[in-house]
Amino acid sequence: MLKIFQKNRSVKKMAQEIDMSNLPKHVGIIMDGNGRWAKSKGLPRIAGHRAGAQTLKKISQFAGDLGIPYMTAYAFSTENWKRSKEEVDALMDLLLEYLRDKDELAGNNVVIRVIGDRSRLSDEINKEIDEIEEYTRGRDGMVLYLAINYGGRPEIVAAVNRLCKKVQDGILEPGAVTEEMLSAEIYTPEAPDADLIIRPSGELRLSNFLLWQSAYSEFWFSDINWPDFSTKDFTQAILDYQNRNRRFGGR
Ligand code: IPE
Ligand code: IPE
Ligand code: MG
Repeated sequence: MLKIFQKNRSVKKMAQEIDMSNLPKHVGIIMDGNGRWAKSKGLPRIAGHRAGAQTLKKISQFAGDLGIPYMTAYAFSTENWKRSKEEVDALMDLLLEYLRDKDELAGNNVVIRVIGDRSRLSDEINKEIDEIEEYTRGRDGMVLYLAINYGGRPEIVAAVNRLCKKVQDGILEPGAVTEEMLSAEIYTPEAPDADLIIRPSGELRLSNFLLWQSAYSEFWFSDINWPDFSTKDFTQAILDYQNRNRRFGGR
């Protein structure tokens, strides 16, 4: 039995039902509900974000120990700049703090890669991103993509622009672009499409997350707010995923 289950008997029992040969290869998580979690406790929104960051550490360690090869965590969307300056600044400070705490975020062999448009992030954050990516490069554990200033549409547009450049440079014929070529130009070229997308907090939408990679994803929704999301919930999501009948258009 995996060491991660020894602490929690009920999770251990549930996890015995997981088919280790049929784990999702890429799990996307929309870490939502931090603000509502804080509000329900009479705390400021940033306290919810802080608690949510702890949940990410816990769940990414758990997913890595389970043997999931790729996980993408939605931390800040291209639309989240619409929030108050106070909240955005606090989120950026929190991000900096967590990127600096390298072993906490990327313990147990996790590889960190940041995806999104980094041009709008501060030099300080960009420096920490470079450092944590360098620090975890060459490991052979789970790849955790942190989606920061990420949007699925901007990701596709950036990929299209790179392909246009290849056409301009005469490397690619107009009209010859394939799905494989576009898959190679998005932010997650090494990862397979997302098998499973988890969204807590009761919202039933993608909010511009992994649009290209989610063509045949299985979705798992829950009313739990992200700071309360547990390893048990994650295990349940995996078990439910394994009971889905994925047909990909076939029979
Ligand atoms: C998700 O929690 C974190 C970010 C979007 C940065 P929210 O801040 O969206 O929490 P709710 O949806 O207001 O509860
Ligand atoms: C999605 O949550 C973005 C992240 C979790 C980072 P939002 O709270 O921003 O999404 P909407 O506004 O409810 O769609
Ligand atoms: Mg939200």
